[in-house]
Amino acid sequence: MPQVPEQRESMHGSWSSRLAFILAVTGSAVGLGNIWKFPYIAGENGGGAFVLAYLACIVIVGMPIMMSEIMLGRRGARNPATSMAILGREEGSSGAWTLIGVSGILGGVLILSYYSVIAGIALAYIIESFKGAFVDQDPTGIQKIYDDLTGDWTMLAFWHTLFIAFTVFVVGRGIKGGLEKAVQFMVPALLAIMLVLLAYAMTSGSFGAGLQFMFNPDFSKLTGASVLKAMGLAFFSLSAGMGALLAYGSYLPKETSIPKAAAAVVAADTCIALLAGMVIFPIVYANGLSPAAGEGLVFQTLPNAFGSMQAGVFMGTLFFVLLSFAAWTSAIALLEPAVAWLTEVSGWARGRAATLLGALIWVAGFGTVFSYNILSGEESQLFGMTIFENLDYLTSNIMLPVGGLFIAIFAGWVMRRSSSVDELGESPAYTLWRFSVRYIAPIAILFVIADATGIIGVLTG
Ligand code: TRP
Repeated sequence: MPQVPEQRESMHGSWSSRLAFILAVTGSAVGLGNIWKFPYIAGENGGGAFVLAYLACIVIVGMPIMMSEIMLGRRGARNPATSMAILGREEGSSGAWTLIGVSGILGGVLILSYYSVIAGIALAYIIESFKGAFVDQDPTGIQKIYDDLTGDWTMLAFWHTLFIAFTVFVVGRGIKGGLEKAVQFMVPALLAIMLVLLAYAMTSGSFGAGLQFMFNPDFSKLTGASVLKAMGLAFFSLSAGMGALLAYGSYLPKETSIPKAAAAVVAADTCIALLAGMVIFPIVYANGLSPAAGEGLVFQTLPNAFGSMQAGVFMGTLFFVLLSFAAWTSAIALLEPAVAWLTEVSGWARGRAATLLGALIWVAGFGTVFSYNILSGEESQLFGMTIFENLDYLTSNIMLPVGGLFIAIFAGWVMRRSSSVDELGESPAYTLWRFSVRYIAPIAILFVIADATGIIGVLTG
C-alpha cells in the first residue's frame, strides 16, 4: 500500500472554505477564453458543428481531466512539478512524471505573456467606453478604435504593463489576500450583465441569424484541424490540460468533494461561453460584420451594441470592468504555479518570486505587443503566424492536448485505484471518471491529434 499522505500539507496555506475553492477555480476558468476566444474561434471555424465539438470535448475529456488535475494537486500538496515527482514515485512509477508539472508551470507563463496583452485591451476599453467613444459610431468607426489601439505598440505596452502589475500584486499577497472576494462578486455580476446583453441581442433583429450560425451544425465545415482547435479551446477554457490546476488543488482541504466542485465550475464556464456567443453573433449579423473577423471580434462587435443602446456608456464601462476582472482572476491562476514552484525551491518570499516572474513574463509579452503592429507583416512571421499566434498555437493546440493525455494516463493507469478512490470517493461519478481517463479521454485525444496532423489520412490511404 502506498503511504496515504494524510499529513502532507501545503506550505502556502489552504482555501478558507469549499465555496472559496469553487470560486477560485471558477475565477481561473472564466476569463478571456469564454468571452474573447470562444466566439472568435467558433466564428473562424464555421459555428454550429464547431460548437458541438467543443461541448463534447468539455464533457468527455475536459471535465475528467480537470478532476484529475485537482486530485493530483491535492494529493501531492506541493507546486505542480514537485507534486508530480512525489506522486510518480509514490505510485511505483518514476519521478519523470514531474514533466506534467513542469508543463503546467511553463504553460502558465507562456499563456500569461499573451493573455496579459489582450486583457490590457479590455482595460483600455473601460476608458474608451467611459469616455463615450462608442456612442453613435458606425461599425467602421468602432473598427478604427480597435485598429488605432492595437496599431500603436506603446499603448498596448502601457496596458499590458498595468495588467501584469495587478496580477503580480495579488499573487504576491498569497491566496487569501483578496482573490476569493473578487471572484465572489465577479462571476455573478458577469452572468447578470451577459443576460442584459442577451436581451439586447434578442431585439437586435438578427437574433435568429446569430443562433442559426451558432447552433445549426454544418458538419462539412468540421475538419481535423478544427476539431483539434475545439479540444484545445475546451481545455483552455477550463484551465485544464497542462497541469496548472494542480496548484489550486494543492491548497484544497481533504473534505471537499472534487467531482461536485468540478461540475459547478464546468457549468458556470460553459454557460458564460455560450452566452457570449449568443450575444456576439446576433450583433455580428445585425451590423453586417463577419463572424470570422478573428481575435478582434469581441472588441469590434460589442461596442456597436453599447454605442446604440440605452445607458450604453454605463453598460459598456461595466462590461469591460467585469471582463478585466474575469481576466485578472484567470491571470492569477496562470502565475500561481510558477510562483509556488519558485518559492518552494528558492525559499524566497512570495512577493519577490511573483515580481521576478512577472518581470520575465512582462518582457515576453512584448512578442505579442509587437505582433499587432511592427511585427505583424509576413516577413516577420514564423510558420505563417505572428509571435502571438505561435504562442497561442503552441499552448492551446499542442501543450494542452498532449498534457491532458499524460494527465489522463497517469490518473487512470499509473495511479493505483485505491489512491484515486481515496481522493474522489467511490460513487457512480467515480466509475464514469475512471472509465473516461482510462479509455475515452486518451483515445479521443490521440484520435484528434492523429486526425489533425494527417496521420489518419496516411493510414487509411
Ligand atoms: N481558463 C482561462 C480562460 O478561459 C485561461 C487559462 C488557460 C488558464 N489555462 C489556464 C487560467 C490555466 C489559469 C490556469 O480565460
